[in-house]
Amino acid sequence: MKIQHLFFSFFPILLLSFTTTTAATSIGVCYGRVADNLPPPSNVINLLKSNGITKIRLFNTDPDVLKAFSGTGIKLIIGVPNEILPVLANGAVNASTKWLQANIFAHVPANQILYIAVGNEIFLKDPYYTPFVLPAIMNLYQALQTLDPAGKIKLSTPHAASILSNSYPPSAAAFDPYLQSAMIPLLQFLHDSRAPFMVNAYPFFSYSNNPKDISLNYTLFNSAPMVQDGGLTYSNLFDATIDAFVSAMENEGFAGIPVVVTETGWPTAGGGAALPENALNYNGNIIKRALNDVGTPKRPGVGVEVFLFALFDENQKSGEEFERHFGIFGPNGVKTYDLKFK
Ligand SMILES: *[C@@H]1O[C@H](CO)[C@@H](O)[C@H](O)[C@H]1NC(C)=O
Ligand SMILES: *[C@@H]1O[C@H](CO)[C@@H](O)[C@H](O)[C@H]1NC(C)=O
Repeated sequence: MKIQHLFFSFFPILLLSFTTTTAATSIGVCYGRVADNLPPPSNVINLLKSNGITKIRLFNTDPDVLKAFSGTGIKLIIGVPNEILPVLANGAVNASTKWLQANIFAHVPANQILYIAVGNEIFLKDPYYTPFVLPAIMNLYQALQTLDPAGKIKLSTPHAASILSNSYPPSAAAFDPYLQSAMIPLLQFLHDSRAPFMVNAYPFFSYSNNPKDISLNYTLFNSAPMVQDGGLTYSNLFDATIDAFVSAMENEGFAGIPVVVTETGWPTAGGGAALPENALNYNGNIIKRALNDVGTPKRPGVGVEVFLFALFDENQKSGEEFERHFGIFGPNGVKTYDLKFK
């Protein structure tokens, strides 16, 4: 009886502390470095700490950057550039082990790494590399069995939102049929290894490409319910996009794979809706909803893990003018608009 009494009195306390420490999905930021005017990585670490930013996505394995993060406690997504994938895919497992040791683990401890992002936006957008994605992931996965025996580091590959051939209504979403043979084994791997599906999602682009059909308020979390889908109601494009990916996976037979948004953001200049007030509105809502674990209509209460794009404007990016104006901070470390991270 005594034991039972202890059990009943302790259990709610444990439960309480568990829920209070795991609620609030923390916000990550992408540290893109296609620029010639950025502060040195050590200054960037101070900037992150003073703003309470605890998670960062890196697009490559620049040793100076990785070394600067080592021991800071900041958690990382580390990107394997697309061009490396054939080498990893075609080599033996021990080639992947060596690559991981030389390029990542020599510079930063395993317990700071959340995910290794294997390639970026390869499916449909950089299709030469498509056949190398899963073989590279499998070799890295085998290599991590010895380098990260607890299996904490998850492997995945970030996708462009355009890999959906249909996204409306969200429940009818489907991957581009052309991707079937690459997507199914990838989903199987993500499911079996409990790794997330990664997507780069930009409601800004959806609105800019189609302002007649998509309202600005719907993209900026400032709308009444716009879309009825089965029993679910959508009042913003971000939720509809995430749930479209959840449904596309379910429609292929894979339920329960988490979605991590490896990029989303809003530019502050470059024409049209690219304005600081819209960027503040969009990113501010993304942060609030993550911190409060709002989730989406299909997964209510499950905060979406998001990496905002990006820390700094990147003045050497090609393409449309707004591509060079996604930065939340100026190169001097001053915020372009008053975004709060916590
Ligand atoms: C890698 O593994 C292969 C096959 O097991 C072996 O023949 C080779 O010697 C290994 N290479 C190195 C550098 O350890
Ligand atoms: C957007 O929302 C605001 C109120 O928040 C409203 O005044 C405005 O008319 C809306 N715009 C459109 C195009 O519906």
